[in-house]
Amino acid sequence: MKYPRKLSSGANNTVIVLSDTEVAKLFTDDTRSDIGSEAEKIKFANAVNDLIVKFIRLDYSEDLKAEMLVMERLRPMDYRAYEVEIRELWLDVFEDELRALHQAGFVHRHLKRPSDIGGLAFDNILLTEQGLRLIDVGISALRSQVENVIFEKYVAVEIQEIHLFKNYFLNR
Ligand SMILES: Nc1ncnc2c1ncn2[C@@H]1O[C@H](COP(=O)(O)OP(=O)(O)O)[C@@H](O)[C@H]1O
Ligand SMILES: [Mg+2]
Repeated sequence: MKYPRKLSSGANNTVIVLSDTEVAKLFTDDTRSDIGSEAEKIKFANAVNDLIVKFIRLDYSEDLKAEMLVMERLRPMDYRAYEVEIRELWLDVFEDELRALHQAGFVHRHLKRPSDIGGLAFDNILLTEQGLRLIDVGISALRSQVENVIFEKYVAVEIQEIHLFKNYFLNR
């Protein structure tokens, strides 16, 4: 299906522009992920801090026959426009906020794409005028859903991925 005002497609979903400030992630019959759980996870993280993209509302488009997860529109910039000293400041904030989410019981789980999937390795981490932001909570987990042992395992993997990202972000 060809969507109007398409912005980008990730591994599973297409994201379209609704306005200057809003985008919608589309969930159709053949989308495997669940919009309700994705909305709940974003809302949980939004209540902790500003790292994860802001949830706006759920909607349905009769025209597109798609459920829509409406979010704040982020405008990614190229890392290379900023000197390394500034990138280091953004990284500090990013790491603090991600750790605060872990403390609160949210783990993102998708900082990095699996190496067998094409595309950019860290395309869920967007650099914006407000610093680094995270999108795509499709496979994120809440401690309350997966319990302690699994949650801690996910956090350990995420901490490794933060280190990989730092290296990528500073050396790009
Ligand atoms: N809030 C947003 N603002 C701007 N672009 C976005 C936003 N959310 C997603 N995108 C773009 O759409 C792509 C797909 O969204 P994503 O949530 O990562 O879906 P998928 O689960 O398919 O990977 C992203 O890689 C990004 O380029
Ligand atoms: Mg993605």
